[in-house]
Amino acid sequence: MTVPRLVAAIDQGTGSTRCLLFDESAQLVSMAQRQHAQHHPRPGWSEHDATEIWANVRRVVPEALADAGATPADVVALGIANQRESCLVWDRATGQPLSPVITWEDTRASVVVDRIVADGHHDDVLRATGIPPSTYFAASRLRWLLDTVPDLEERCLRGEVAFGTMESWLIWNLAGVHVTDVTNASRTNLMNIEDLDWDPHMLAVFGIPERVLPEIRTTAETYGKCSDVLPGVPITAAMGDQQAALFGQTCFEVGQSKCTFGTGAFLLVNTGVVPQRSQAGLLSTVAYVLPGEKPVFALEGSVAVTGSLVQWCRDSLGLVATAPGIETLAASVDDNGGCYVVPAFSGLYAPRWDPAARGVIVGLTSFVNRGHLARGVLEAAAWQTADVVAAIQGVVDQPLPSLRVDGGMTTNHLLMQTVADVLDLRIERPLYSETVSVGAAYAAGLSAGVWPDLDTLSRLWRRACSWEPAMDHETRERERARWASAVERAQGWMDI
Ligand code: G3P
Repeated sequence: MTVPRLVAAIDQGTGSTRCLLFDESAQLVSMAQRQHAQHHPRPGWSEHDATEIWANVRRVVPEALADAGATPADVVALGIANQRESCLVWDRATGQPLSPVITWEDTRASVVVDRIVADGHHDDVLRATGIPPSTYFAASRLRWLLDTVPDLEERCLRGEVAFGTMESWLIWNLAGVHVTDVTNASRTNLMNIEDLDWDPHMLAVFGIPERVLPEIRTTAETYGKCSDVLPGVPITAAMGDQQAALFGQTCFEVGQSKCTFGTGAFLLVNTGVVPQRSQAGLLSTVAYVLPGEKPVFALEGSVAVTGSLVQWCRDSLGLVATAPGIETLAASVDDNGGCYVVPAFSGLYAPRWDPAARGVIVGLTSFVNRGHLARGVLEAAAWQTADVVAAIQGVVDQPLPSLRVDGGMTTNHLLMQTVADVLDLRIERPLYSETVSVGAAYAAGLSAGVWPDLDTLSRLWRRACSWEPAMDHETRERERARWASAVERAQGWMDI
C-alpha cells in the first residue's frame, strides 16, 4: 500500500498530548493520545511534569505513524499547537527541567501580580501587551520562579537557563533551537502587541532577564528539523492551541469567530491586521503571523472553567459517573429550578478579571435536585460565553454572523442548544472537532507548500451540525439578569 504524503500535528494540551496525521486532502489518517498527570501540590497550584510530556510526545508520534502504516519519511511537515501560558525553565547545557511546568490555571504568582498592580503598572502592561497583568499569563510565573528557586536568577543572567512555553520546550527537544512562536509570546505579558517583540519596559516591570527568553518567530516558518521522534522532518508551524483552533476553523475573515469548549472556553474573533483594544475585559492577542504578510490579530474572551466544572462534578462531587453523563442528568429536568452555578475556581477571567472571585451556587431551595444542578453547570458554560460575546459586540462593528464551535464539550447537544439560546446566535460545528490539531496541520502544510493558500484551506471547512436559537427574548433577559446577579455574589470573595 502506498502511504500518502502526511502532515503531522502535535497538540500538547492541558490534559494530554496527541499526534494526528493528515493526508494532502486534509483527511485525518491516524491519531494517538496520552494523558499526563495533573499535580496540585497546594490549593491554587497546578503543575505538569515536562519530562513526562516530552516522553509522551516520543510515544504518541510513533503510535500515530504505526497506526497509519507510515514512517517519518512519509511526513513532510510537523506543526505544533500547545496549551498556552503554561511554562517552565530548563538547563541549556543538560536540557533538564529546572522547574515543573507551572500551568495557566496556577494562581501561585498572585503575589507578583499584586506587586505589579500596586506599583501602578496595570495600565502600562495592558497598553504594551494587550493583556492585563494576571496569573493567567506566563511572566508572573517566571518572576515567581526567579524569586523562589535558589541561584536561578544568577544562572539566568549567566545565560545558562532557557525559559519557554510548551511549544518552545518541544521544539528545543525536537530540533535543539530555542524559539517561540508569536502567538504564544503574545500570552506572556512580555511581548509588545504592536512591535511583536519582547518589550524592554515589560522586562523591567517583571524583572525578567532577556537572555532567558526564546527568539520570537512567525507562526508558519521552518524553525528547524527534528533530530528526534521524526528525524529529518521540518517543524514548519507552531501556535497556541486557541489560535490553532481559530486557524483550523478557517476564521480568516475579519469578524469570523470560534469558541473552543474544553477545560475552559476560549472565544476568539478575527479582528484583522490592527490590534483592537477592548475596554470591557477582552484580550488583544495575535491570531497568526505568516511570513512576509501583515500580522492578523484577534480579540479573545477566555473563560477559565467550563469542562473542568463537569470534571469536578464527576471527580469531586460524584454527581455523574462520566462527563457525558452531565447531559443526560441535565435533560432529566425542564430548567435549572432556580439554581445558578458560578465556577470561579481560579477567580473570574474575561470579561471581569477578578482574581478574588470564588465559586458559588445560588438559588438553592429544597426543590433543587441533581438534575437542576447539572443544568446549572451547563448554563454556566453558556452564560460565561454570552458575557464574552456581549463584550465583543461592544468592540466589533458588525454583529457576529454565527459562532463556530469545537472541543470536547461540543458533543453535548443540550449545551450547544443552550449556547445558541443565550447568545441568540447560530452555532456551527465542523466535521472535525479536533480543530486545534487541524489548525496546526494547516499552518504546517501551508508553510511546507502542501496547501497553496488560505482560500484553499477555507474551502476544506465542512459543517457537521448547527443549532439555532429557540429561546424567547423575555426568558433570555430574565435569565441573563439572574446569572449577572449570581456572578456578583461570587466576586470579591477572597477580599472579605
Ligand atoms: O489558555 C489556555 C489554553 O490554551 C488551554 O487550552 O485546551 O489545553 O485546556 P486546553
